[in-house]
Amino acid sequence: MDHSAIIKVDCVSKSFSNRGQTEQVLQQVSFDLEKGEIISILGESGCGKSTLLNVIGGFEQADSGKVLLDGHIVERPSRRCVMLFQNYGLLPWRSVLKNVELVLEDDAKIPANERREQAFHYLRLVGLHDKANLFPHQLSGGMQQRVALARALAIQPELILMDEPFAALDTFNRYYLQDELLRLQDKEKTTVILVTHDIDEAIYLSDRILIMSANPGRIRREIIINTSRPRDRSHQDFQHFRKIIFEEFHFNRPALPMEYSI
Ligand SMILES: Nc1ncnc2c1ncn2[C@@H]1O[C@H](COP(=O)(O)OP(=O)(O)OP(=O)(O)O)[C@@H](O)[C@H]1O
Ligand SMILES: [Mg+2]
Repeated sequence: MDHSAIIKVDCVSKSFSNRGQTEQVLQQVSFDLEKGEIISILGESGCGKSTLLNVIGGFEQADSGKVLLDGHIVERPSRRCVMLFQNYGLLPWRSVLKNVELVLEDDAKIPANERREQAFHYLRLVGLHDKANLFPHQLSGGMQQRVALARALAIQPELILMDEPFAALDTFNRYYLQDELLRLQDKEKTTVILVTHDIDEAIYLSDRILIMSANPGRIRREIIINTSRPRDRSHQDFQHFRKIIFEEFHFNRPALPMEYSI
């Protein structure tokens, strides 16, 4: 085994039975992640990205193969790995502060005042300590996602799984949160697996991009993004990676006939 790998996804296969039909969703998916790495998974809708995250997080069991987190087989969800969803997953009846405190409540060793202080610390990290007493519906979508990020970080997980976390946000909020994620990730050295449909987001954030093919879901290609951060979306290196990915998905269609050109 590669000892620098914090995550080892080893030959994971998974199928679902729907109305008597068995669908092979993941077929022998394997990859490793080093501590502090950010990888993105890109692939068409239905190719098994969320299923793969669910298996890695222990929310679903693989039919065969295994996932190792820091050398331990993942069999069920644990605090070592948190999932951040597109719909933020905040409890509407709890204040922002209480939403973050929630994840610290399982730990009976932490006294209530310390829990509050820790929750404040993570809200400060995402710049929302002044919103601590508001309720989720009183925040913008981007702010709610920052609360969800603060809550995920408060658990101090080794791995954060993100399933299209910024998809519902407008461009400016998305760019802002992408930078927030990089800043916080650099500070906490958390390992991140991100599922996204946004090619630019994958290039901007990732150390590596895994491209999945569908039916059955497999890792088709790995692209290493070796440019330094912060990355410039208008730089030719960025364009170079865009081109590779567009070609991989056959997005470079033939030019439109003259009468349609702008
Ligand atoms: N719990 C389940 N029971 C049965 N079938 C499922 C289940 N979860 C996923 N599937 C099937 O597995 C396939 C892959 O689904 P999955 O949600 O992993 O795709 P995805 O790549 O995340 O798609 P999207 O980009 O649209 O989110 C789909 O055909 C889906 O119907
Ligand atoms: Mg999905």
